[in-house]
Amino acid sequence: MDKYERVIEMAKRRGFLWQSFEIYGATAGFWDFGPLGAILKRRIENLWREFYVINEGFYEVDGPTIGIEDVFTASGHVRGFVDLVVECKKCGEMFRADHLTEKHNGGCPECGGVLGDPYAFNLMFKTAIGPDSKRIGYLRPETAQNIFTAFGRLVRFYRNKLPFGVAQIGKVYRNEISPRQGVIRLREFTQAEAEIFVHPWEKRHPRFGSVADTVVRLYPKEKQDGINITVGEAVEKGIIAHQFLGYHIALAQSFLTDVGIPLEKLRFRQHRVDERAHYAVDCWDAETLTDRFEWIELVGIADRTDYDLKSHSEHANADMRVFVSYDRPKTVEQLVIKPDMGVLGPKFKDMAAKVADALKALSIDQLRGEEIAVKIDGKIVRIDPKWIEYERVTEEVQGEYVVPHIIEPSYGIDRIVYALLEHSFEEECVEDDDARIVLRIPPNIAPIQVAVFPLLSKDGLVECAKRVESLLRQNKLLVDYDESGTIGRRYRRHDEIGTPLAVTIDHQTLDDDTVTIRDRDSMEQVRVRTDEVVEIVCGLLSGDVSFEGAGTRI
Ligand code: GAP
Repeated sequence: MDKYERVIEMAKRRGFLWQSFEIYGATAGFWDFGPLGAILKRRIENLWREFYVINEGFYEVDGPTIGIEDVFTASGHVRGFVDLVVECKKCGEMFRADHLTEKHNGGCPECGGVLGDPYAFNLMFKTAIGPDSKRIGYLRPETAQNIFTAFGRLVRFYRNKLPFGVAQIGKVYRNEISPRQGVIRLREFTQAEAEIFVHPWEKRHPRFGSVADTVVRLYPKEKQDGINITVGEAVEKGIIAHQFLGYHIALAQSFLTDVGIPLEKLRFRQHRVDERAHYAVDCWDAETLTDRFEWIELVGIADRTDYDLKSHSEHANADMRVFVSYDRPKTVEQLVIKPDMGVLGPKFKDMAAKVADALKALSIDQLRGEEIAVKIDGKIVRIDPKWIEYERVTEEVQGEYVVPHIIEPSYGIDRIVYALLEHSFEEECVEDDDARIVLRIPPNIAPIQVAVFPLLSKDGLVECAKRVESLLRQNKLLVDYDESGTIGRRYRRHDEIGTPLAVTIDHQTLDDDTVTIRDRDSMEQVRVRTDEVVEIVCGLLSGDVSFEGAGTRI
């Protein structure tokens, strides 16, 4: 078994993850999070909220997972969210054309048969809305779009001030072609995305100084070869295009390492031009090194420019601009349109004023040409350019309308859960014993924070242990009470699921009201007074108390 198989075997056995619909033979791309997996995933999402909602101040929204066709036509997904697929003429297996390598010699990787011609396959799941099924809908392939379609409301919520960010965590769906990478490539998965609306030509980040010295490992697109560099230097040298991207690369590194992804297994790779999504001008992927799949993408950090807002603005005829005031008003010389009412009055009579207003609403560029046309009450009216005069005026301008650009860090939560399981999974040889499997998950996201064991299920130890369990639960800790099997087996069980601390109640507890606390990583134990156990456990979990100083060593 390779490491992926060993991790997945443990994950299934211990209640983290398993394939959905197993009793019916399962279908690739769908996985359930079991009791421990669901808590772990939720705790990772909550840590993400700490970073983006609490620290960055991006309000979180929660939109529908089904979108109407108009949304995905405007976003470009109906036309552009496609992969090239090839089908084997012999065994019928489907493959992503870009996943076929030269070693297959153009034949089917499964049976060697002849492959058909590649064709474009749209990855969105299509559905029909309403009982008459007339309205087409799609399961969303990214959470982002309903943030873009609600831009007008959001910008007012943020009092028309740039930059501002909006966060969303939720399910997304992609009908991946024959996903063969287990839990890495799913057809339904959870994204945590932040959409940050910035001034189009002001991509300096107000807090860039706080991350400028962060060292990151970058793989720029021309080089695709690693360099260790500070984010500040990378922006200065133009390796990272601007401070907003740099800031979010540093933030992603900070989040991923807090989750438990080791720094030495993390890199940021810039997309080559041919792999960029249709909406992005630049994108850096946070990738982690895994045993079976090598480097996999966990986060994409993209500059989506004004692509989405402009496209929705055109398709929905909605105003997606923000008025940005200048620091100081600017004096500008402008060419002002002055329709000649002496001509328009007699020609258009009652309609003359409307014609003049329509002409004033046109730009100078629109007024170039042999003939000008405007629409008045549904009718096209043709105007001779000679009927218009121009005047140069000096005006004081307070600001201008801009369509914001969007910077987007987009996290795949399921992949982060898997990467964390793999990176924290260790098999150790322990003297006179079988291998100890230990999951070194950071205490701030471990699905169970503390286990409580009575040494024996008699002699009054159970009652005492239940009291300790209750005290810990009252303090909102995630606790597991376990009295089955030998104490050694119970320690092993909790090592394997990553429980950082175990509290054991033994006969000495009855004599002197003390309990032991065992540390998962070092397997060391200290004795502490029962009335101090909550405070010490909380201190150990938060890192405020060191294990060495927590109590009397045993
Ligand atoms: N809104 C931008 C966006 O959707 P993406 O790079 O396509 O960007 C973001 O997706 C993240 O979602 C990826 O970095 C990856 O972690 C995760 N992801 C993408 N496809 C996935 C799949 N089929 N299964 C599991 N996670 C996936």
